[in-house]
Amino acid sequence: MTETVAFPQDRTCPYHPPGAYASLQRAHPLSRVTLWDGRSVWLVTGHATARALLADQRLSSDSTRRDFPVPTERAALRRRRRPALLGLDDPEHHAQRRMLIRGFTLQRAERMRPRIQTVVDGLLDAVETQGPPAELVSSFALPVPSMVICELLGVPYADHEFFETQSRRLLRGPTGADVEDALAELEAYLGELVDRKRAHPGEGLLDDLVARQLDTGAPAREELVQLATILLVAGHETTANMISLGTFTLLRHPRRAAELRADPALVPAAVEELLRFLSIADGLLRVAREDTEVAGTVIRAGEGVVFATSAINRDGEVYAAPDSLDWGRPARHHLAFGYGIHQCLGQNLARAELEIALGTLLRRLPGLRLAVPPQEVPFKPGDTIQGMLELPVTW
Ligand code: HEM
Repeated sequence: MTETVAFPQDRTCPYHPPGAYASLQRAHPLSRVTLWDGRSVWLVTGHATARALLADQRLSSDSTRRDFPVPTERAALRRRRRPALLGLDDPEHHAQRRMLIRGFTLQRAERMRPRIQTVVDGLLDAVETQGPPAELVSSFALPVPSMVICELLGVPYADHEFFETQSRRLLRGPTGADVEDALAELEAYLGELVDRKRAHPGEGLLDDLVARQLDTGAPAREELVQLATILLVAGHETTANMISLGTFTLLRHPRRAAELRADPALVPAAVEELLRFLSIADGLLRVAREDTEVAGTVIRAGEGVVFATSAINRDGEVYAAPDSLDWGRPARHHLAFGYGIHQCLGQNLARAELEIALGTLLRRLPGLRLAVPPQEVPFKPGDTIQGMLELPVTW
């Protein structure tokens, strides 16, 4: 065990975990790492230990607690407000999740597939007309999930530049003012939208919540706006990162990409394996409410716990040859969507989007390749969400 490893660290290759996490993983399922503010917390890198702890309600997700671990200076500025769902423990969390669950079932995601295909085809028509070359983050990876979440929620896509800018400032804005201001702008925008929907109901999930509120009084306006904010932000950033980093990874593994072109029925398995391999949400956070024993170690009440999904999903005890991409392996029990009560609400939707986006991209642009050397493609610096900043391609 060492006290000196820092968390989070930059990836040296955008699709592999930072080397330091991998060596910790080999040593022990739990180790100590140091956060930017000097605080020492537990880092979980073992798969079985991660599942046990993420299912253990003695660990709290309440980010307003003073002892909650804060992974970056920027995240410290977000913590004063507790995000809906993700920032709550049960029973409050369960009450919120129950209100939303019908909007995110597998059946609902399956029903959205034709519409997702139309969105993907339309964007690729524009990419083909305007290129080659193209910058795939802004022309494809971001608009696909953005359009889809807008339709699901009933948010006008015409306003996408506004909320994409605000959520970028919220997650990656350089200053504290950015974070506070972006959140205020998003909440003001969604508050007005919710008020308009009260007078003019539409078809989206937010309209269902407004109708429910009119019927039962719950959720209150403030809670509804907070739910809308987390769904809008969570619904597009993560999926956009998976599309861009997934495409980059396929371009760096041409034989694997060729297998998918030759047999598109492999695409769902490939998406699952890419989710495992890339683990873009790399740093889930909790704090122990009580002493909790796991894997022969006692995590004391008040200690922070960080889950490095990139290392967890490469645990050699669970995955043979974990550092290679293999469409044939059973990858489904990866923790890329988390585990336990907070496991990703949007995972069915995200899978449908990724399958259609990546499958269609490979089919329609068989000559797709990077337009610059791979080391010149800019990816996000070390944080808890990984992805590409730009993806210049040609075909
Ligand atoms: C590939 C894309 C995605 C990835 C990798 C991803 C990953 C995750 C992870 C790891 C968590 C658990 C966090 C934790 O336990 O601390 C989570 C939760 C969540 N995700 Fe996703 N997500 C994705 C797409 C989406 C989409 C499309 C939505 C749709 C709105 C969404 C909405 C949510 C929500 C609401 C939660 C909180 C659930 C709760 O606390 O009960 N995500 N996601």
